Amino acid sequence: MSIQQYQAIKQGGPFKLVTATAPKPGPHEVTIRPKALSLNAIDWKNFRFGATVPGWPTVLGIEGSGVVESVGDGVTSFKPGDEVMNWIQRTQYNGTFQEVYTARDVVVAKKPANLSFEEAASLPIAFLTAAAGVAVGLKVPLPGLPGTEAINPAPKSILVIGGSSGVGSGAIQLLRLALPSATIITTSSVAHHAHLKSLGANTCLERAAQEDSAALKAAAPGGAGVDAILDAVGAAADSPAIYDAFKSDGPKLYALVLTRPGVQLPDGLQSTLVGGQNIIDKNPAAMEYLTKLLAEGKYKLPLKVEVVGKGFEAIEKGLDRIPQNSGKKLVISL
Ligand SMILES: NC(=O)c1ccc[n+]([C@@H]2O[C@H](COP(=O)([O-])OP(=O)(O)OC[C@H]3O[C@@H](n4cnc5c(N)ncnc54)[C@H](OP(=O)(O)O)[C@@H]3O)[C@@H](O)[C@H]2O)c1
Repeated sequence: MSIQQYQAIKQGGPFKLVTATAPKPGPHEVTIRPKALSLNAIDWKNFRFGATVPGWPTVLGIEGSGVVESVGDGVTSFKPGDEVMNWIQRTQYNGTFQEVYTARDVVVAKKPANLSFEEAASLPIAFLTAAAGVAVGLKVPLPGLPGTEAINPAPKSILVIGGSSGVGSGAIQLLRLALPSATIITTSSVAHHAHLKSLGANTCLERAAQEDSAALKAAAPGGAGVDAILDAVGAAADSPAIYDAFKSDGPKLYALVLTRPGVQLPDGLQSTLVGGQNIIDKNPAAMEYLTKLLAEGKYKLPLKVEVVGKGFEAIEKGLDRIPQNSGKKLVISL
């Protein structure tokens, strides 16, 4: 059987629909026919700069939702016809921008019936990365998801840099769930402050505060600084005042989301570089945990979903919006 792939022929385009052989799932893999695709910063970085592209042409896209087409040996949680949402770790020709793609079963979860395919497609990677930032990076275990080590005492005050990003808005919710009485401070454009408070932030600062050590420190309890920082957007490398937000005699926990290759961790902090895979490595049930939290109303859609177009041909224009994207998840409907 053949399928259509929306291949990026070379860096910067063009994209072209190309006929290819339909993929077959290997052990612990499923194939999925997508109904919606989300557009992520890495897709734009790959398309424009080839950030993690092993070779051209390639099929981009790391996240989607759709219907399971077939399952490989050892897959017990899914069957053909199931409605699912997923992340994938891309290879040259296995990205989500095609009619059928392959995903490892551990990065797939059942789509909650009350969410549209577009909403579901917006969830997995931000959730996994936020969960890794909280549980692996800040050593704050997530209730009901064993497998991560705790630091004792747990941080009492946390600064989330980039609260209006997919990862940041997910992390605020998970921190509130794990540490009900902690102080959560975040930075974003003012337009998103009310929403971030509704997700669990106590204090929202304008992005300009990231250049102002005194303002960051003053926002923490007693003006003493914070125990932990989760840098969801990799901002501290360019705004070192962020590091001054740490409490001088605190644990100085710093979780940095991997946003570009070759990033250096700062000295003198308890630093961890995190990506979505880190939480799967700690507990392969992390995606099931997402479904459970959604069903229990403990995790909300972190960001508004904007459908930027229908069909593969809408992808390029959608990707061009990524650098200016603010507080939304951009999604393509199929
Ligand atoms: N390694 C991994 O596994 C992994 C997984 C997911 C994401 N990532 C990376 O993590 C980053 C975040 O991804 P995402 O999908 O969550 O991003 P996103 O939602 O597309 O991020 C857009 C938001 O980030 C905020 N932002 C951008 N630059 C900022 C800065 N310097 N300071 C503060 N806020 C800033 C903007 O805030 P305002 O508009 O409110 O100002 C905007 O709302 C990306 O670089 C992505 O590539 C890595």
